[in-house]
Amino acid sequence: MSTHDAIEVISAKRDKHALTDSQIDWVVDAYTRGDVADEQMSALAMAILLNGMDRREIARWTGAMIASGERMDFSSLSRPTADKHSTGGVGDKITLPLAPLVAACGVAVPQLSGRGLGHTGGTLDKMEAIPGWRADLSNAEMLAQLESVGAVICAAGDGLAPADKKLYALRDVTGTVEAIPLISSSIMSKKIAEGTGALVLDVKVGSGAFMKDLDRARELAETMVGLGKDAGVATVALLTNMETPLGYTAGNAIEVAESVDVLSGGGPADVVELTVALAREMLAAAGRDDVDPADKLADGSAMDVWKAMIRAQDGDPDAPLPVAKESEVIPAPSTGVLTRLDAMAVGLAAWRLGAGRARKEDPVQEGAGVIWHARPGDSVTAGEPLFTLLTDTPERFERARESLEGGYDIAMSAIGEPTPVILDRIA
Ligand code: URA
Repeated sequence: MSTHDAIEVISAKRDKHALTDSQIDWVVDAYTRGDVADEQMSALAMAILLNGMDRREIARWTGAMIASGERMDFSSLSRPTADKHSTGGVGDKITLPLAPLVAACGVAVPQLSGRGLGHTGGTLDKMEAIPGWRADLSNAEMLAQLESVGAVICAAGDGLAPADKKLYALRDVTGTVEAIPLISSSIMSKKIAEGTGALVLDVKVGSGAFMKDLDRARELAETMVGLGKDAGVATVALLTNMETPLGYTAGNAIEVAESVDVLSGGGPADVVELTVALAREMLAAAGRDDVDPADKLADGSAMDVWKAMIRAQDGDPDAPLPVAKESEVIPAPSTGVLTRLDAMAVGLAAWRLGAGRARKEDPVQEGAGVIWHARPGDSVTAGEPLFTLLTDTPERFERARESLEGGYDIAMSAIGEPTPVILDRIA
């Protein structure tokens, strides 16, 4: 191994130099093994956040994180694979209808997902609201389910990009999450190591997202698409609106119910639009653009895959979902048109009601969350329900109400058209 040391690498980035391939390989490997200390990696992460990295450095850093663990291989499957990654939003239940929908169109979906932290929900927390369903599968179980059912939503095992696991936890507590080189290498190292053939990125923009403005989101998307293509993964990104939360629900069981509505051929228009748009992108990237996903929602075949996918992981797709013990309605204070509904305010309220967790090891409440009864552009009537808050622990209502105050506007009449769901496409 080479003779670098941590201070040399930190100083190089502090002084705005590009790191060499060998410096990058060394520091990622040495950090994973524990030879570079957390405080040294924190300093390096902050230097990267402040001074950036060029495309070669980001690609090398991503490669070093992939090399820190195992790589999965789906080449033995009889169909192509495609995965979707969302950078995280409020009410973002899209993975739930999307994975079985794409599988129903003939492309296998290995969807390795995470739990929520902070105001954004996690796919595994939502799925775990389904009675009996289990998130942890071995690699062999995952491969077998991909062949038999065509879709798997499960927890990413410890073997994939362990350098990222360690570094992400460190970034979370050192104010270094929001660096484009670090976000893009974190996401793409896991997706490339997972071995998907095609990847569609849903990069969220707006108050409820990591990226608050379109230019930063576009830069992140372009960086990730470049990393994917360089690694031989057919990668496309959609930039999508996270100023307003998706659908009408943010929580766990209530988002499962809304996803099942979509699979039944109904559901909120924005959730259906984004699910079908992402499905089309996944199918095209996997070489199957001869099938129209809208047909598979309408004819019930996506629902059949959903049920098979739940049963294969010991869940009961027909069992009643958990219901919160307590609910409270917030009525509309005036009559008019809802002109703004802030994703961050709703996400925070759902989190405060118990749908999310403050620390990684905290449990979540399956029934907790927020239902909003109108979306921007809809008419509302004074005294009629605007929000329903759900929790098992009613002492949480007050703080949830506080986070919704100032989180919406009602005007006498509509102000222009609501922002579209899909803002841009990067290929
Ligand atoms: N999601 C990830 O996996 N990594 C990041 O750095 C940010 C979001």
